[in-house]
Amino acid sequence: MKVSVVGTGYVGLVTGATLADLGNQVVCLDIAEEKINILNSGKSPIYEPGLDKLIQQGLKAKNLKGSTEIKQNIRNSDITFICVGTPSDKEGNIDLSYIKSASSEIGRALRDKDGTHTVIVKSTVIPLTTEEVVMPNILKKSGWKREKLGIGMNPEFLREGNAIHDAQNPDRIVIGYADEIAREKLNELYKSYNCTKLECIPRTAELIKYASNSFLATKISFVNEIANMSNVWGIDFQEVAEGMGLDSRISSEFLRAGAGFGGSCFPKDVKALAAAAKNSKVESLMLKATLEVNDLQPKLIVKMAEERLGVIKGKNIAVLGLAFKPDTDDVRESRSEIVIKNLIEKGANVTAHDPEGMTNFKEIVDIPMTATPELATEKADCVILMTEWEEYQNLDLELLLRRMAGNVLIDGRRALNSNEAERVGFDYKTIGLG
Ligand code: UGA
Repeated sequence: MKVSVVGTGYVGLVTGATLADLGNQVVCLDIAEEKINILNSGKSPIYEPGLDKLIQQGLKAKNLKGSTEIKQNIRNSDITFICVGTPSDKEGNIDLSYIKSASSEIGRALRDKDGTHTVIVKSTVIPLTTEEVVMPNILKKSGWKREKLGIGMNPEFLREGNAIHDAQNPDRIVIGYADEIAREKLNELYKSYNCTKLECIPRTAELIKYASNSFLATKISFVNEIANMSNVWGIDFQEVAEGMGLDSRISSEFLRAGAGFGGSCFPKDVKALAAAAKNSKVESLMLKATLEVNDLQPKLIVKMAEERLGVIKGKNIAVLGLAFKPDTDDVRESRSEIVIKNLIEKGANVTAHDPEGMTNFKEIVDIPMTATPELATEKADCVILMTEWEEYQNLDLELLLRRMAGNVLIDGRRALNSNEAERVGFDYKTIGLG
């Protein structure tokens, strides 16, 4: 099938590269020439393990390319995926401006096209957006009759850092369709996947995406709250999580307590769903609590450091981990940002390290950063681990302590061996270990 993908962010690139890998003829479209040039040179404009390789394979097989010629490439394709960003505004409401401009552009491109065309929204959008914003916009700008247009919503469930694996091995594919054209095209496109394909109307597909992310985020906030209780009762939350996870109805996934959830999806999506519900006069108490607990966790990390150091002012604190999770350079809504800003406000001298996220983080907070974790922790009074990179989990704790000026170690992700840390002489503290 001839596929065009509008938007070469994380979702668009992974969608384009995996659809090309399935043998489709894919063109990834973006107005940012620089990104397209990087893509056409065989590299990924974002850091995602395995994506470079897939892009190179696609370019070599001549079934993947990038282009800034948006209209012409949409016209020449059978199906267009909208993969543009849906950020939040200041009140947490979804900002649909990129969705609106992409659908207008698609509409204008279709004006001179004969036959049918299918447009699928893959961006995360609040219920009714596909039917009430995207479809009318395309019809208006194209002048097309409704019967010629296929419209659908097909959410993505990819995790950054595992995106290629997730795209190639989905748990389920949600096929939201507004007409038979879209239904047939999506089923044809995904025919080689053996997983469950759930067919529904677009607004259901839109809510499945939000409900899934919000549920996972709520699960994290819930375990964080229980882990905070474990802290005061002298209980090891990891054992509690193990006991809970053995119940197949609960599952052992997403039971890791710590500094809270970050990234470009969970915080934004929970806020957007809560705001959309409120606008429709349904107040969500659960989502509000999910966000409140998530705001609290980084503050608890700083409090743990403060309790051990006595006073934060003037102390040298090394923060290890800036990315919102390992295996990504994405620092959006990273819990490290909150911790670092809080430490600076309290007068600490903060030095940081991250294997991939330093360049991006420098644009948010400009603090001293070092080439290695060893350099960041040199002469530190306290080390705070915020992202569970494997590199940090393999640190020689004895050597780390010897280089430091103090002995406080706060583990924001419960990633280090607590017994070993205490054995070598650290004053070690983590969330969920009494
Ligand atoms: C998330 C979802 O997991 C994907 O299914 C979804 O497609 C994606 O959002 C999206 O909407 O695009 P992602 O944000 O890449 O994926 O990352 P996750 O692995 O889900 O982690 C999110 C945050 O939760 C991270 O900050 C992580 O440290 C935190 N987390 C995760 C915990 O604190 N505890 C856990 O047990 C799991």
